[in-house]
Amino acid sequence: MTEPTPDDPFLAGGFEPLRREFDCPDLAVDGEMPDGLDGTYYRVGPNPQFAPRPPYNPLMGDGMVHAFRIADGRVSYRNRWVRTGRWLREHAAGRALFATAGPFGDDPEAGPRPGDGVANTSLVWHAGRLLALEEGALPVEIDPETLETLGPHVFGGALGRNMTAHPKVDPATGALSLFANLPRGRLTGELALYEADAAGVLSPARMVQGPHASIVHDFAITPNFAVFVVCPVTLSLERAQAGRPLIAWEPEAGVEVLAVPRAGGEPLRFETAPCMVWHVMNAFEERGGIVLDLCEQDVAMFPTADGRPPDASRAAQRLARWRLDPRRPGVVERRRLHDAVCEYPRIDERRTGLPYRYGYLAGLGGPGTGDLFQRGLSRFDHATGEVAVWDAGPTVAVSEPVFVARGPEEGDGWLLANTYDEVSGTGALVVLDASDVAAGPVARARLAHRMPMGFHGLWISAASSRRR
Ligand SMILES: [Fe+2]
Repeated sequence: MTEPTPDDPFLAGGFEPLRREFDCPDLAVDGEMPDGLDGTYYRVGPNPQFAPRPPYNPLMGDGMVHAFRIADGRVSYRNRWVRTGRWLREHAAGRALFATAGPFGDDPEAGPRPGDGVANTSLVWHAGRLLALEEGALPVEIDPETLETLGPHVFGGALGRNMTAHPKVDPATGALSLFANLPRGRLTGELALYEADAAGVLSPARMVQGPHASIVHDFAITPNFAVFVVCPVTLSLERAQAGRPLIAWEPEAGVEVLAVPRAGGEPLRFETAPCMVWHVMNAFEERGGIVLDLCEQDVAMFPTADGRPPDASRAAQRLARWRLDPRRPGVVERRRLHDAVCEYPRIDERRTGLPYRYGYLAGLGGPGTGDLFQRGLSRFDHATGEVAVWDAGPTVAVSEPVFVARGPEEGDGWLLANTYDEVSGTGALVVLDASDVAAGPVARARLAHRMPMGFHGLWISAASSRRR
């Protein structure tokens, strides 16, 4: 960085941007790295190249991809910024040009905003391509080995201006279900639904009308439905032009859930009391209805429409099960599954859209707790309601867990995550046995440098990457 880092908690400690790109051929490993782990664990998150133009919104910091290649019990590491159009222009200028906190405030020399955004939120592997995703922009293809940026991927021109950071691979067909929120860039509440077949050929967009422009970050699929939760977070350019929030928490708008038949037809619509949902754990069909498991938050961390700050004490997220019955239109039956604060729900993705037993979460910290970071991982057992927890301790931040299969049974595998040790100022990859989370890591590959806590991760097995 050429400028001092602003005094911002999202640019310090476990979020402080890494200023270098590394190639580390052989990391120190504590414990025993399992022989069966053969592939690459990827992680992406915001990592501004230059001190951002204040105020900084970490959701819009430049994406950096980290990759831990694991084979024969050994681990190598590499990290690279995603060289988006925005990153390249700022690199050439030697300073930040683009505002991160909204559509206004770019440097007069910035020029039009490139269409490939910041590629900082999530990653997906489909049809032999590794894509870095940010929901307001085009996906950016990355070389899975070198992490070189290959450029925006527009599915042969079939994708419009953006796609979700949380597409879903249908385990039965290998198809990728995805959507775009605000696909025409207008704040009208439109959603576009797409499906890319196993070869990566994208269907034409199906337009779905939501109740209002909102942040729809994730969705769920079942064999027959795509399910969207539209929360009372509203977007308004007029409001922003009047000096009030672009994005606001307006609980009086309630929640609308749309179950869109994947084969075509009108969405089924359901309503429920206000809450915010960022991430879905899974969904499946049962007795003609839809079961939707998600992390819900009483209050979204956005100001009210008149600019009052949110009540951070109500921002804790908890795991809940919602039931939608097409024979009872309009009604959402809601049940909290556990009182533990949690975020970043993941599953054994061979069960995506299907009845399943285990969910994996980050917890012991995060929004609503007074601690910016999660400090542990857990496994939730839907069959028993039991939670197994690994507590990494008060000075270690822990990322979202990523499940890696070992045997054919659901849940037989490992959980991979990365950590940041606030005492040593270094990062690590940790590997847990997914069937014994409480035992903590069976192996830890240590970096000599900091790795900022990012958003989402991905595993690509060596067998899968060889097939591309
Ligand atoms: Fe996300």
